[in-house]
Amino acid sequence: MNAVFDSAAAPDKDWWRGAVIYQIYPRSFQDSNGDGIGDLKGITARLPHVASLGADAIWISPFFTSPMKDFGYDVSDYTDVDPMFGTIGDFDAVIAEAHRLGIKVMIDLVISHTSDQHAWFVESRSSRINAKSDWYVWSDPKPDGTPPNNWLSIFGGSAWAWDPTRMQYYLHNFLTSQPDLNMHNPHVQEAVLDAVRFWLKRGVDGFRLDTINFYFHDQHLRDNPALAPERRNASTAPAVNPYNFQDHLYDKNQPDNLEFLKRFRAVLDEFPAIAAVGEVGDSQYGLEIAGQYTSGGDKMQMCYAFEFLAPEPLTPTLVADTQKAFQEAAPEGWACWAFSNHDVVRHVSRWGATVADRAAFAKLMAAVLMTQRGSVCIYQGEELGLTEADIAFEDLQDPYGIQFWPEFKGRDGCRTPMVWDSLAKQSGFSAADKTWLPIPVEHSLNAVHVQEGHEDSVLEQYRRFLHFRRTLPALIKGEIAFHTVSETGLVYARSFAGETVLCAFNISAEPLDLPLPDGDWQALEGHGFAGTAEGGKIRLPAWSAWFARG
Ligand code: NOJ
Repeated sequence: MNAVFDSAAAPDKDWWRGAVIYQIYPRSFQDSNGDGIGDLKGITARLPHVASLGADAIWISPFFTSPMKDFGYDVSDYTDVDPMFGTIGDFDAVIAEAHRLGIKVMIDLVISHTSDQHAWFVESRSSRINAKSDWYVWSDPKPDGTPPNNWLSIFGGSAWAWDPTRMQYYLHNFLTSQPDLNMHNPHVQEAVLDAVRFWLKRGVDGFRLDTINFYFHDQHLRDNPALAPERRNASTAPAVNPYNFQDHLYDKNQPDNLEFLKRFRAVLDEFPAIAAVGEVGDSQYGLEIAGQYTSGGDKMQMCYAFEFLAPEPLTPTLVADTQKAFQEAAPEGWACWAFSNHDVVRHVSRWGATVADRAAFAKLMAAVLMTQRGSVCIYQGEELGLTEADIAFEDLQDPYGIQFWPEFKGRDGCRTPMVWDSLAKQSGFSAADKTWLPIPVEHSLNAVHVQEGHEDSVLEQYRRFLHFRRTLPALIKGEIAFHTVSETGLVYARSFAGETVLCAFNISAEPLDLPLPDGDWQALEGHGFAGTAEGGKIRLPAWSAWFARG
């Protein structure tokens, strides 16, 4: 039976504001058919785990038909499920079970590019004169045969690939097998919006929009200027990637996108309570663009920001500067923050937590993340405090890692299978003898069943904190104001509808006293941290926090 949209319900249109979204990477969540790769039936079976955490929604990374060159971010049919993941009926079952458990479902739309095996591209590349000849970004070479400009692919090399049939180059911001759709063409816009409607009719509650700021390119194909070395940063591409050497003025971030996003939003608004979060990958202008895309109430509800996905450890200053910069860039906007995802080194490893402090660090980071102003994504396995897996070169799957190995090992280390039960075969993930990526023994020792019921485990702390957060609207929808931003101490207040919640953190392994801001504060219970307050001071043991209502 199809999960169809139920017009009788009276939905909360604002459900996404401050929501906690649990990201599922379907290849690695749960395998139900023993092929060593996760699938949709596996997701359905494990949704009670997500419900037990208290997450509001899931975001499922792509499960559409795909040759899997970029593991599903290369779609060859927008309106079907890849057989590796199951059937459209299996997807309907995911929706039905999620809704039964009170969880919203967001799916990952990858419409900036398709796979080169998509029928649209097959037709487009077949000649210079066909109905879809302008559906992708084609350009003649320079007279010397080289590409039309200096644009670079994030995955390495020129962003242009040669097609000998058309005797032209086509644009690809990622793999050569991910040709960039020409969104300047209104027929392309219509076609992708049809795919959006298809999934809305099946009952999804929203979308994560892959690389939303890459939808449009400069039609004059102007060269990107060089970026001064001191302006380079590695938040969207690793430091060894020359993509960071350019100021991306022309290959992405084009103002034409704003009109398209309005069209997109109008489609969402044909259905009740649908939300979209746009992934804005840009090291220079990310927050500014997020501001543009989430302003006015007529484009995206949220943008997914990269500020906390960078290699640099999370510091009080980074948190305060980022929140302030976002408020400045996007006074009416709303961000969606994450510390980990399927593209970056898991944060307990990336930010260098020592073995001894790892669990305490993971718990504290969860509290910092879940008290940010904005919505929040947590990435499968984060709730177990999982570390980055070390994958041998011969086991590597990610083409990005193969390209930049060994300086950048790619994204496989954060994509290894979820660990459910340390005593079961493949930690309960799969009945296969070999899984698509290996499962580290250390992960297995931290499986869900190992942690479950142990009050001091990372998992139980995630559950506890998520439930604590749920009882405090200020932590969900509130404004943020900073009181203390020191080397390791961070105190801010979240306020909503006349209530303020003070949040104090010690981001260090040493005890710390911080000044208690003026006010009549009542300490809150039930968050699992050992901070206290007395005599005008907040006393915080190592890696701990304190919360109070005022
Ligand atoms: C961002 C996705 O998160 C990443 O996994 C993918 O490789 C690129 N976009 C290209 O779609």
